Amino acid sequence: MAARAEEAVGKDGFAVKRVRAGDIRHVTALDERVTGLAKPTYWQDIFERYGRRRLQERQFLVAEPDTPNSSVPILGFIIGEVRAWEFGSAPCGWVFALSVEPKARQRGVGHALFEAISREFRTLGVTKMRTMVARDNRLHLLFFRGEGMMAGPYLQLEKEVD
Ligand SMILES: CC(C)(COP(=O)(O)OP(=O)(O)OC[C@H]1O[C@@H](n2cnc3c(N)ncnc32)[C@H](O)[C@@H]1OP(=O)(O)O)[C@@H](O)C(=O)NCCC(=O)NCCS
Repeated sequence: MAARAEEAVGKDGFAVKRVRAGDIRHVTALDERVTGLAKPTYWQDIFERYGRRRLQERQFLVAEPDTPNSSVPILGFIIGEVRAWEFGSAPCGWVFALSVEPKARQRGVGHALFEAISREFRTLGVTKMRTMVARDNRLHLLFFRGEGMMAGPYLQLEKEVD
């Protein structure tokens, strides 16, 4: 994978690239703006795991504006990996994080990130992608439906552990 994602994929005013160490503080700040929670340790750990190791099957991609010194250094990010044989499922591409800078939304950044990771999964030989969405998150549902995703064959179960 790495070879293509390391090259910038030219888009309208931005490029999709593999994450670098210097991007993590911007990813952390973007996530804090979107979720209201600061998680610097979590994001550093995710970078160590998805931005440095087993890069063949792990993708941590960022969208950067073409303009140098932009006030918004990272327009968005997406993270995923190929997972095999969980719950008996054949290898498939999982997307577990996606976020676009609120000021940069509805300009195709989310779509470009999704397309870029889809290409990487295809290159790795998987033919299916999965993600998880909160039932009441209409925006996420609309976005992923627009990208062609539909309800899958698994149900998530949970219980309180006391
Ligand atoms: C969902 C999200 C990634 C979309 O990013 P985006 O860059 O605005 O999306 P795009 O501009 O590429 O839009 C792609 C498609 O998504 C859908 N979409 C995007 N924003 C939408 C909105 N506000 N209302 C309805 N549909 C929308 C449309 O189908 C759109 O296609 P169209 O432009 O042809 O209509 C972005 O809104 C986001 O980051 N939301 C918060 C995510 C989050 O909470 N992350 C933290 C936990 S991981």
